[in-house]
Amino acid sequence: MEKMPYRQELDVTLMTVTSTPTPEVTSSDWQAGLPTLRGKQVVLRELRASDAASLFALLTTEEVSRFISPPPNTVEGFERFIAWTIRQRSAGTYACFAVTLQGFDTAIGIFQVRQLDPTFASAEWGFAIGSAFWGTGVFQDGAELVVEFAFETLGVHRLEARAAVQNGRGNGALQKLGAVREAVLRKSFLHNGRYLDQVLYTILDEDWQATRRTTSRSYLSAPSVH
Ligand SMILES: CC(C)(COP(=O)(O)OP(=O)(O)OC[C@H]1O[C@@H](n2cnc3c(N)ncnc32)[C@H](O)[C@@H]1OP(=O)(O)O)[C@@H](O)C(=O)NCCC(=O)NCCS
Repeated sequence: MEKMPYRQELDVTLMTVTSTPTPEVTSSDWQAGLPTLRGKQVVLRELRASDAASLFALLTTEEVSRFISPPPNTVEGFERFIAWTIRQRSAGTYACFAVTLQGFDTAIGIFQVRQLDPTFASAEWGFAIGSAFWGTGVFQDGAELVVEFAFETLGVHRLEARAAVQNGRGNGALQKLGAVREAVLRKSFLHNGRYLDQVLYTILDEDWQATRRTTSRSYLSAPSVH
């Protein structure tokens, strides 16, 4: 999701942002609160207002934001973004997970999934992780949890992702995950005053399930949901 669905310039809702942690959710009613997903290295959980400072520090660097929509440019902007993610999740249109490492609660990145149609049969996902954690397996671990969540909990059938052609790591990460390169969307992403080509990738639920059945890779084991 190179184009973040959140548009800070359009977010004029006045909200009091508190840092009260969202309680862990045990039900599958994700609209009431996102489940906590545990992988080998990472724990994915709902964002909290208190994540704003670390996300601002990690996701606004040049290398992270080079090929994505400009992230909020202040801590307060991230607080508004986080409040927006909670509202969208309650409305049932979108889910955004904070990426944390096992044993630490600091948010080091995000995974987002948004519906492309009202039933969530088609959805688009996107992600950004602090560059200190690139190449460490954090992306792969978190991505498998989110893809599983999309297919098993949201009921997604077709999961799309877009990556600017120039985004080497974004393309590489999606290909490693088995996403199928379907097309090049010519001049589809306006970034810093230039239209960039994007690669459209998809993962289908049946492909994902088939891969799960035929592989013994441990990372494809079902995530634990708490
Ligand atoms: C996209 C992102 C989450 C991936 O996480 P990551 O930890 O960098 O991903 P990984 O290291 O697991 O996978 C990237 C792969 O791309 C490969 N790659 C391909 N082309 C590359 C290039 N030009 N430069 C660097 N790596 C490249 C890497 O070698 C790696 O594969 P390997 O593990 O087989 O060596 C992270 O890079 C990020 O946050 N980027 C900024 C935000 C962003 O662009 N998000 C949108 C992506 S569509």
